[in-house]
Amino acid sequence: MTILERDQATIWHPYTQHKISASPFVITHGEGAYLFDENGKRYLDLISSWWVNLHGHAQPEIAQAIYQQALKLEQVIFSGFTHEPAVCLAEELLNLLPKEFGKVFYSDNGSTAVEVALKMAYQFWRNQGEKKRCRFIAFQNGYHGDTFGAMSVGKSSGFFSNFEDLLFSVTMFPYPATWLGDENVFQNEQHVLTQIDDYLQQYGSETAALIIEPLIQGAGGICMCRPVFLRELERLVRSYNVLIIYDEAMTGFGRTGDFIACNKTNTRPDIICLAKGITGGFLPLAVTVCQDKLYETFLGDNFTKALAHGHSYTANPLGCAAALASLKLLQQPETIMQINTIEKVHRDAVNSLLNDLPIEMPRYCGTISAFDLKLGSEYGSKYSIQLRDKFSEQGLLIRPLGNVIYFMPPYCITEQELRSAYEIVIEEIQGVFV
Ligand SMILES: Cc1ncc(COP(=O)(O)O)c(C=O)c1O
Repeated sequence: MTILERDQATIWHPYTQHKISASPFVITHGEGAYLFDENGKRYLDLISSWWVNLHGHAQPEIAQAIYQQALKLEQVIFSGFTHEPAVCLAEELLNLLPKEFGKVFYSDNGSTAVEVALKMAYQFWRNQGEKKRCRFIAFQNGYHGDTFGAMSVGKSSGFFSNFEDLLFSVTMFPYPATWLGDENVFQNEQHVLTQIDDYLQQYGSETAALIIEPLIQGAGGICMCRPVFLRELERLVRSYNVLIIYDEAMTGFGRTGDFIACNKTNTRPDIICLAKGITGGFLPLAVTVCQDKLYETFLGDNFTKALAHGHSYTANPLGCAAALASLKLLQQPETIMQINTIEKVHRDAVNSLLNDLPIEMPRYCGTISAFDLKLGSEYGSKYSIQLRDKFSEQGLLIRPLGNVIYFMPPYCITEQELRSAYEIVIEEIQGVFV
């Protein structure tokens, strides 16, 4: 039997309707920005393999770091035990974050990082006797992962209608998404801020926290908001003493052009969730980082105030070693130059290249760009599927989100590769719509 036949006999894939979806690509290896299938065809990975890959596939320094760590210590229980890679990584991360952040809580993926953040925020108030503070605020279209807390704060993403009755109640506000040439951005932002203010006037003293994907909403359609909105949001929410959680699972590690969106916007949430790119795309790992003032409320003479959360692979040494190697690469001047080059190519594309196409709302931020096709808005709409197939025939790995086409390449992509990819995308869109 082929790998594909064996896959079909045994595996249930994520976010896949097996009855109608095409067979998966069988990938044998990766190198740099490319993935190779079993027939030797190569694909330029323009989505960084679900937004995790930073420095390219099979990156040798990260691979070496994992190998060396595996020869020393592959795993140890993290309750009552610790190890050097976890400590070094926590120190490195805290050095790169604003000074208010003092503690790193490890978990495995973006959903669990969010789960931990929600629990931290909720229990922060309970530990201080404020048991009425149990409301959460989130944003329409926001996506925070597939576990129950994460689904609750991301329920308007449209993915979770089958579980709706099981989710806790969360109040959603519009995300003031903007794009090049948007003339209403200021009014839209003010409208959202007024709605939140009205809500907090009534329920501020019952609200535990607000959660937001800062600067860019990912799975909800690569929607982008302005830094100034986040600064005004912070000022408003702080005035009601409500905690702020930044879900930077996707925006972290250089994606917005800065280390994290929090730095880029000069705002200070209480809790930050980091995942996806943390290991450069090699191993599952995540962190929920919080300010010291929050951590201190969890201290007590017995277990009651402690955070009851942990996973078997919490702070896995191999993941921490991969993350340390990835952080080292991320801080090299060449990587920073690469990030700037990617942003420049995106800027050129959304400002001119894409003119005359049936698209709207062109936008970019750091290493991410997106635009909407003017037709069809359903997830997996006819045109997106047609386009996705055309792109892969041409050797481009692009997965439209409904009618949104986006680029989120690994940082090792060359300027020429990215420019050529835009040219192919433009040709294929013209081909499908004329
Ligand atoms: C902003 C954000 N938060 C959380 C998650 C969930 O991360 P994971 O898929 O690693 O559980 C995602 C995944 O796309 C995300 O984009």
